[in-house]
Amino acid sequence: MEVDERFMRRCLDLARHGLGKVSPNPMVGAVVVHQGKIVGEGYHRKYGEPHAEVNAIASVKDEALLRDATIYVSLEPCSHYGKTPPCVELILKKHIPRVVVACLDPYPEVAGRGINMLCDGGVEVVTGVLEKEALELNKTYMTSLRLKRPYICLKWAQSLDGFLDRMRSDASLPPVLFSSPLMLQQVHKKRSEVDAIMVGTRTAILDNPSLTVRHWSGKSPVRVVIDRNLTIPEGYHLLNGQTPTLVFTAKEKENVPNTDYIRIDFEGDVLRQVLHHLNERRLQSLLVEGGAFLLTRFLEEELWDELQVETASVYLGEGVKAPVLKESNVKQPVVSVYSRKNQGSK
Ligand SMILES: NC(=O)c1ccc[n+]([C@@H]2O[C@H](COP(=O)([O-])OP(=O)(O)OC[C@H]3O[C@@H](n4cnc5c(N)ncnc54)[C@H](OP(=O)(O)O)[C@@H]3O)[C@@H](O)[C@H]2O)c1
Repeated sequence: MEVDERFMRRCLDLARHGLGKVSPNPMVGAVVVHQGKIVGEGYHRKYGEPHAEVNAIASVKDEALLRDATIYVSLEPCSHYGKTPPCVELILKKHIPRVVVACLDPYPEVAGRGINMLCDGGVEVVTGVLEKEALELNKTYMTSLRLKRPYICLKWAQSLDGFLDRMRSDASLPPVLFSSPLMLQQVHKKRSEVDAIMVGTRTAILDNPSLTVRHWSGKSPVRVVIDRNLTIPEGYHLLNGQTPTLVFTAKEKENVPNTDYIRIDFEGDVLRQVLHHLNERRLQSLLVEGGAFLLTRFLEEELWDELQVETASVYLGEGVKAPVLKESNVKQPVVSVYSRKNQGSK
């Protein structure tokens, strides 16, 4: 078991290289082991490209070794034709006699079928090796399949006395910027790892944020904003069409390149309609970057999985009150990051 865990840990390390590149697929790593030595390894590099098992098997120099090898995979091998042929077929074709899997794939077209097909083909299959770690690695994929909504991270920065910003009625005054350059980089890294990013109407209007990845490398997430009456001025960054953007509104408006206007019922449950739509688009992770009203709605409706609260050593005395966390809605430790007062940009 210890040996299996050692090789599975390597699979998980490899899988992590796919972060921000493989969604809506899960991150997966695989290693091929022959007589205690790794003879091949691979991971799923990009959505639509070969799976981890295919890359790992292709990297084995002497194919004859496969007949006496074990392949370790961090997720159940697929059994269906998607963008690529089933990995199970490849494993059977190459006569690999032993497969060790970390966790099952809840994707409806796999869901245990991959394991069953391997067993039926005479392969020895071991499951559940570092299962907890593998489920954690793919928590956004797992959440979206289980709950039919994206994995939700609520993020905000606040003053020591609990304010998100000074009180402003228009954009002529800039927002208070709490984040240090290091925190700003971390925020942009997080943006590069999620599928979608969201703000409320007043944040869009008062801050004119771009919500793109600029202080880190990687792709920008799909931007999501609520704008019931289409009040965000033309020419604002969110409407510049540079990144795919979804505007949820009560009004009728034709889509323009890279910007979709989606009508929803504001008398109904707004957040669930938004999340349903994101799920339909297979956007599996959502970073909510404020403001207070929007964050509070998510908290009150218990629609969140992770919180990131940055507390800067600044007192504002008054302003926009930060969301208040009740003990009961802290499901897991809140990531509190303290940073010094500094300048930055959204
Ligand atoms: N420090 C930080 O981390 C941070 C981050 C972001 C923003 N901020 C600051 O926060 C302030 C803005 O926060 P805010 O609370 O005033 O506004 P907000 O949350 O950005 O936007 C609130 C508005 O968005 C619409 N909305 C949001 N959620 C909705 C829902 N579930 N259902 C229906 N409508 C919804 C409503 O617009 P309608 O009333 O038009 O329907 C609502 O009045 C700004 O000062 C900004 O600088 C700080």
